[in-house]
Amino acid sequence: MKQVTAICPGSFDPVTVGHLDIITRAAAMFEQVRVVVMTNTAKSPSFSAQERMEMLRDCTRNLTNVLVDSYDGLLADYACKTGATAIVKGLRAVSDFEYEFQMALTNKKLYGGAETVFFTTRAENMYLSSSIVRDIASMGGDIGDFVPPEIHDRIVERLCRR
Ligand code: PNS
Repeated sequence: MKQVTAICPGSFDPVTVGHLDIITRAAAMFEQVRVVVMTNTAKSPSFSAQERMEMLRDCTRNLTNVLVDSYDGLLADYACKTGATAIVKGLRAVSDFEYEFQMALTNKKLYGGAETVFFTTRAENMYLSSSIVRDIASMGGDIGDFVPPEIHDRIVERLCRR
């Protein structure tokens, strides 16, 4: 039987409860989900790809059809290589749309075998981003509501400068 595989790509620097919500919803919709830590050339990550993968694994353990991977190349090539037919992205606000639309069209042009599917972020996660989490953690603020509990201490120990 053909397995429908979806990719959840991102920087995940670090993974937030917003990311985890999208991954969980993708896992409920597709037979297999590959969460893949990728390179965003516009960003310089605080956590290594290995650390980001470990954090993702720690908080997706209960999702049996989710696997965590990393890939330092084009998302379109990764989709082709793994036979994925869907690329799942979360949309927080209209401000995300233009960039995400451009990436979706580019990925479709590079590899026609995968469709980008947008999930609307939950209202309570609209404002949330990895950079906000890094900012708060580095200044000793409370990130308890923003990151999965399994990785909370690791982020604080690594980023807190106070
Ligand atoms: O979490 P982010 O930083 O918004 O994720 C963006 C990411 C990593 C998915 C994007 O930069 C990406 O797909 N990088 C892989 C390289 C690639 O395929 N670039 C062309 C995209 S059109």
